[in-house]
Amino acid sequence: MKERHYERASASHIPVLYQEVLYWLAPQAGQAYIDATVGLGGHAEGILERSSPDGRLLAIDVDPQALKRACQRLERFEGRVVFVEGHFAQLTKIARRSGFSSVAGILLDLGVSSLQLADPARGFSFQQDGPLDMRMGPEMPLTAEEIVNTWPEGELARLLWEYGEERFARRIARAICAERPLHTTRELADLVARVVKRRGRIHPATRTFQALRIAVNEELRSLEQVLPQAVELLAPGGRLVVISFHSLEDRIVKRFIQQESRDCICPPKLPQCVCGHVATLRPLVKKPIRPSPKEIAFNPRSRSARMRVAERLPSKEAVRNG
Ligand SMILES: C[S@@+](CC[C@H](N)C(=O)[O-])C[C@H]1O[C@@H](n2cnc3c(N)ncnc32)[C@H](O)[C@@H]1O
Repeated sequence: MKERHYERASASHIPVLYQEVLYWLAPQAGQAYIDATVGLGGHAEGILERSSPDGRLLAIDVDPQALKRACQRLERFEGRVVFVEGHFAQLTKIARRSGFSSVAGILLDLGVSSLQLADPARGFSFQQDGPLDMRMGPEMPLTAEEIVNTWPEGELARLLWEYGEERFARRIARAICAERPLHTTRELADLVARVVKRRGRIHPATRTFQALRIAVNEELRSLEQVLPQAVELLAPGGRLVVISFHSLEDRIVKRFIQQESRDCICPPKLPQCVCGHVATLRPLVKKPIRPSPKEIAFNPRSRSARMRVAERLPSKEAVRNG
């Protein structure tokens, strides 16, 4: 099954952990699902196939180009998919407006798609020359160019350290400030390569580009905003599946699931619970699911993927009322 999917995937976006996503979401006919990062529609296609003949899908992406491609790919499911160009930080609003207020599963496959990476004009890749843009969607206000050319050195160093976990953050920030203005991805990648030695096979600018992308798209804040909304939209027994691509994202997802699995989140020192917090999730996997060596060999971009899965618990009230 996996092999067949790989064959079909072509050179476009290969969905990461495809079989695992479908196993845990377990799509069924008659149910509704949300793919909040539909991208090129790879996972969405699987969800719609498995939930035939009448499962419904809300397909969201902030990138109109990706959404167009997903629309074409999912054409044969017409009538079962609602496409929305939007930001997942607005998930509740988008879902309610689209008639998806209580769903059986929600997928967040974070990060960039191959389409975005492959297009030099988007500025995500240090392997091709293009403008320093890095916005996932055209409505986003800040570009990488603006950050690189206007932020003070200290702020830049902090950004590279916090979002890129870059140990040479100060050195890179200093070099950027000395050589700016910088306008293209090649200029920035070459500058970083000049001040930081290559470690193994990873390009020295990898962490700098990651940090800028996270800042431009406010990726961590958006993730923190979407998770509680996703829980609210899940019906009891509904499943939340999140694939992240770096430790900062994975930590947010892990902590969120841990917190939502507890009935009390008061500091341990308090003798008595005062928070009134009620568990809303049950983690379904202890450790994050990682791609197999075979998947990594086939799709090297999957190597940093980590997937976490949790199930929505019924509310205490619902349990009490039987
Ligand atoms: C890794 S791709 C998803 C690939 C998809 N699962 C597939 O099988 O083709 C991530 C997608 O999420 C989108 N995205 C990133 N941040 C977003 C946000 N805050 N709101 C909505 N979409 C977002 C990106 O534009 C990109 O298309």
